[in-house]
Amino acid sequence: MTDAIAGAHGARLIAGAGGARLIDGKAVAASVRAEVAVRVAGLGFQPGLAVVLVGEDPASAVYVRNKDRAAAAAGIAAHTIRLPAATTEAALLAEVARLNADSAIDGILVQLPLPRHIAADRVIAAIDPAKDVDGFHPLNVGLLASGRPALVPCTPLGVMKLLAVAGVALSGARALVLGRSAIVGRPMAALLLAADATVTVAHSRTRDLPGECRRAEVLIAAIGRAGFVRGDWIAPGATVIDVGINRGADGRLCGDVAFAEAREIAGAITPVPGGVGPMTIACLLENTVTAAVRRRG
Ligand code: GUN
Repeated sequence: MTDAIAGAHGARLIAGAGGARLIDGKAVAASVRAEVAVRVAGLGFQPGLAVVLVGEDPASAVYVRNKDRAAAAAGIAAHTIRLPAATTEAALLAEVARLNADSAIDGILVQLPLPRHIAADRVIAAIDPAKDVDGFHPLNVGLLASGRPALVPCTPLGVMKLLAVAGVALSGARALVLGRSAIVGRPMAALLLAADATVTVAHSRTRDLPGECRRAEVLIAAIGRAGFVRGDWIAPGATVIDVGINRGADGRLCGDVAFAEAREIAGAITPVPGGVGPMTIACLLENTVTAAVRRRG
């Protein structure tokens, strides 16, 4: 059976032979990026995004290059600042202070992880919260935790957009977030709670993880372990959002969910690649415009 449904954002949610509808993150991200480009064109000024990369981590270099290209394609002035791995914390803090003071810069993102000799917490806390397009500054974390979101971390924001486009009703729904990282799990739980879901956060110390998963109507997997969530952990008809981006034993990209098994049971599911991944950069661009409008508007 193939059945294409056009959702908001023009997303095509395609029901495949396995049963579950596939939530097409690539298509939704493309439409968010197109929307951002339209907003930027109407601003009357060019928003600026600064991405700071310290060191030569190859995965980070790829992410940063993709962010740069996507920003430029949306009409945002992208400034990538590449600093050597031996950069001191003081020098990085000085760079952040310079970007805070630069009125042409609306968004600042310091790519993580940072070299071990630099305390990421101190660097994040030094970013002007109004320019914190990652939503990692303690002020933005606190606002989200208290139900008054300002700038929201990009990956969980992307997940919320996918759930909206897929037409998943969250009010009163049992949602399980698997993983408690500062970048995904914790802000994800806060956003689902703000959408009136009944939220459980599970993690490596949780007793009976399969049982917890089976109770979930909406399951968000963000633990960074390839194929960890098995098909028989999933409630029939549940919505499964796979945030994991892992390298499988065969060298191919795969998520935290055993996809072939899960799609037989789930009602809707995101693939990896092509699910949550493309949403992160799209939401970064959206956050940059949000920050620009709030600062200058
Ligand atoms: N490294 C991996 N994901 C992210 C992210 O969302 N933001 C930043 N700054 N670094 C990351």
